Amino acid sequence: MGYTAHTGVREMRELPESETYEEGLLFWPYKYSLETVLNRISALAPIGGTLLDIMCGPGYLLGLISKRRMDLRLTGVDIDERYVGHGKAVYPEEIDFQLGDVLDWKASEQFDVVVCTGALHHVPYDQQEAAIANIASLVKQGGVVVLSDCYVDDYTNETERKLAAAKLGYEYLINTITNGAPDRVIAWTIGILENDVMMEEFKPSLPKRLALLERHFASVTTTQPWPDSDSGYGDYIHICRR
Ligand SMILES: C[S@@+](CC[C@H](N)C(=O)[O-])C[C@H]1O[C@@H](n2cnc3c(N)ncnc32)[C@H](O)[C@@H]1O
Repeated sequence: MGYTAHTGVREMRELPESETYEEGLLFWPYKYSLETVLNRISALAPIGGTLLDIMCGPGYLLGLISKRRMDLRLTGVDIDERYVGHGKAVYPEEIDFQLGDVLDWKASEQFDVVVCTGALHHVPYDQQEAAIANIASLVKQGGVVVLSDCYVDDYTNETERKLAAAKLGYEYLINTITNGAPDRVIAWTIGILENDVMMEEFKPSLPKRLALLERHFASVTTTQPWPDSDSGYGDYIHICRR
């Protein structure tokens, strides 16, 4: 990863291997968000219902759900073959893992619950509404979408966006180090700051994301697991109903 000398163009950084990614989940502030999402899903999903985790990564959350709610039929979809392969290997019976793109993946039937955690910021800004529209189409009428994501402070121009991304990245890093993360997780967390500032990841502000969600759902209820303070930036969870 870095800048090629002759063009100054930044090379793409891949997400880490499944094991490193899942290790990060133990130390990032994002862990508070995942805990809350797990509790909300456990309470909201109908007995014997169907649940889709779209942009599921290596399947960490699905694994927790499969232990907590053994009655649910679980599907996980991700665009990264390594993560889908990892999920299939670790949960061969409990979870149906499929390769797919959040922008156009379709299923033969709609789901009672659709989950998308910490992931929509990987979709470029100008495609996030299309992703949200596809997610909304995958849930049954009367079903629920549980969406979590990380936001920066609101901004009105590119300089403000970069500053907001740097501030979030700094706070995230401080928290990760305080939580006792090993160096490989700290190094990866520094990389997230760089990705956000240089627009390889696309974290919007809460008001910008809410404007999109409210166009595709009848109701959106929002909570903020991190940080404790009433800040603009941080991890948020939305419970969305069609
Ligand atoms: C930060 S991870 C989040 C994974 C998981 N949801 C979690 O909470 O740990 C983002 C995931 O989105 C996936 N992803 C990125 N773009 C995608 C796309 N267009 N369609 C489906 N998955 C995508 C990546 O492969 C990655 O697994």
